[in-house]
Amino acid sequence: MDNRAIGYMDSGVGGLTAVKQALYQLPNEQVKYVGDTLRMPYGPRRTEEVAKFSLQIGHYLNETADGIKLLVIACNTATAAALPLLQEHLPIPVVGVIQPGVEAALNATDNNVVGVIATQGTVDSNAYYNGLMAGNPGIDVHQLATPDLVTLVESNEQDHDKKLAIVREQLAGLAGSGIDTLILGCTHFPLLMDEIQEVVGDEVTLVNAGAEAINLVEQILDDSDARHGIYPMSNHEVDQYYTTGSVDTFGEIATRWLDIPVSVKHLKTDANDLTLIEGE
Ligand code: DGL
Repeated sequence: MDNRAIGYMDSGVGGLTAVKQALYQLPNEQVKYVGDTLRMPYGPRRTEEVAKFSLQIGHYLNETADGIKLLVIACNTATAAALPLLQEHLPIPVVGVIQPGVEAALNATDNNVVGVIATQGTVDSNAYYNGLMAGNPGIDVHQLATPDLVTLVESNEQDHDKKLAIVREQLAGLAGSGIDTLILGCTHFPLLMDEIQEVVGDEVTLVNAGAEAINLVEQILDDSDARHGIYPMSNHEVDQYYTTGSVDTFGEIATRWLDIPVSVKHLKTDANDLTLIEGE
């Protein structure tokens, strides 16, 4: 039994797609989340920079308040850049979102033609391509960087038609590819699930990599006997959400997406540190 929270990190609100699955699948577990909205997007940044930010956030989550018992790197770009680094530097289990996404796609595909939409950083890392090939060398992989979908989600746009137009334009490169499965290889993208499904068609299975990672989290908690001890732990009001950007925008998106009231605190970023700004 371990009553510490599970930590989540992302460049912004994207990691909330993993949190949403965790609230459903592991409702007894507290959440401690950092969205690095000020330094978003991570996708176009250098690998070393994303690794540095990820390490900074991992340390913050692990070393403030009661710490965390496990970290989910709820960001594909950060997983590609920093999973082994964080596993090496933090004294807790660290879970990435890419391998769970790979495994779910390998299970879902019938025709072995799989698409991956992700940030430029994730596409350039080839982490999905290599993972899919390792699982099935006969697979046909179509990778596409769709960075505008990250900024679209963070813009908090609510108009379906406007969102649909941008999704259609960003996904144009997949037309005629014959994919039967599409990995949402950026945790922001499930927030556009309806529009993406409309563009690719109902016959294409969408894989939500962030949500898939929660199966691995559950397995680690069980293997290490680390589930929250008090059942039911109904008080998600004490969950902790932090952003380095706008508290209001983050709070609005989080409350709507998670369908629970979320109160958000502001973190200030310095070159090497994150500092909690009280009262903001
Ligand atoms: N949500 C992130 C991911 O899964 C990154 C988006 C970004 O900051 O570019 O890759």
